[in-house]
Amino acid sequence: MLRSSKIFQEKTNNIHPKIAVILGSGLTNFFEDPHILHTISYEELPDFSQPTVEGHAGKLVVGTVDTQNVVCMYGRSHIYEGRESTELVNPIRVLKDIGCKLLIITNAAGSLKEEMPPGSFMVINDHLNWSGFNPLIGPNDESYGPRFSDMSDAYHQSYREQLINIAKKNNQKLFEGVYCMYSGPSFETPAEIKALQVLGGSAVGMSTVPEVVVANHCELAVIAISVITNYAAGIKKTKLSHQETLEQASLAEEKILSLIKNFIRDVK
Ligand code: HPA
Repeated sequence: MLRSSKIFQEKTNNIHPKIAVILGSGLTNFFEDPHILHTISYEELPDFSQPTVEGHAGKLVVGTVDTQNVVCMYGRSHIYEGRESTELVNPIRVLKDIGCKLLIITNAAGSLKEEMPPGSFMVINDHLNWSGFNPLIGPNDESYGPRFSDMSDAYHQSYREQLINIAKKNNQKLFEGVYCMYSGPSFETPAEIKALQVLGGSAVGMSTVPEVVVANHCELAVIAISVITNYAAGIKKTKLSHQETLEQASLAEEKILSLIKNFIRDVK
C-alpha cells in the first residue's frame, strides 16, 4: 500500500469510497459545500504532484452523492509537465488501495468531427495512444497487476452502456468515440489532425490515456467522458488556446457534473 493511501485512511477515518472521479481542465467543483466530508491537499499526499497548469486545483476531496461516498481528484498531472511515470501511476494506485472499484475520468478535448461541435460530450469507447508514452514502462509491481495487461475492454462496456442510457433518459446528447492522445504541450498540427481522422479518431487531448492504462493494469474499471472545447487544429480557421479550453469547459461544467452524478446514483 502506498504512503498516501495510509494518510488518506487516517485523515478520513477509514472511508472506502467505491467510486473515484478525476476532474479535467476547467472543471473545478464536483461537490457542493454541504456534501464535502474531507479535503486533502496534494501537498499532504507524497504520491500526488501539485499540478502546474491553470484550471487544476491539486486536492483530493471526499464527499457524498446521495448516500454514496465518492473521492474526487481536483486536478491531475500531465506528461507535458515533465512528470516521472510514478507521478502518473501512483495516484491511480492510491485510488485502488483505498477501495475504489470504478474510476470516472473527465477531460477537455478537441473535436475531429464536424458534427460534434464545442460544448458536446463524448463518452470514450477506445483510444489511440499517440503520446509515445506508457506509464507502465519500467519494473512491474506484481502486487498491482501483471507485466502485460489486457486493454480490450479499457473503457468498461457495461458501465458505458449504463451512462449512455442515463444520458438518454435525461435527454442529454452524448456522442461516443475514440480518444486520441498527443503528449502536448503544443496543440497538434492540421496534418496530424487529418492523420488522426483517417485512423478513426473522434477527439484529441493530452491526458487520460496514462490513467486508463494504469487503472486497467490494476483492474480498476474505467469510464471516461470528454468535454469538447474546440474543433481540433485546421478544422476551422480559429487559433487554439488553453483559455478557450477553460472557458468552454466551465460553460459545460454544470451539465457534465449532473450527468456523472445521475450515473453514480444509478450505479449504486
Ligand atoms: N488538442 C489537444 N488537447 C486539447 C484540445 C486540442 O484540440 N482541446 C482541449 N484539449
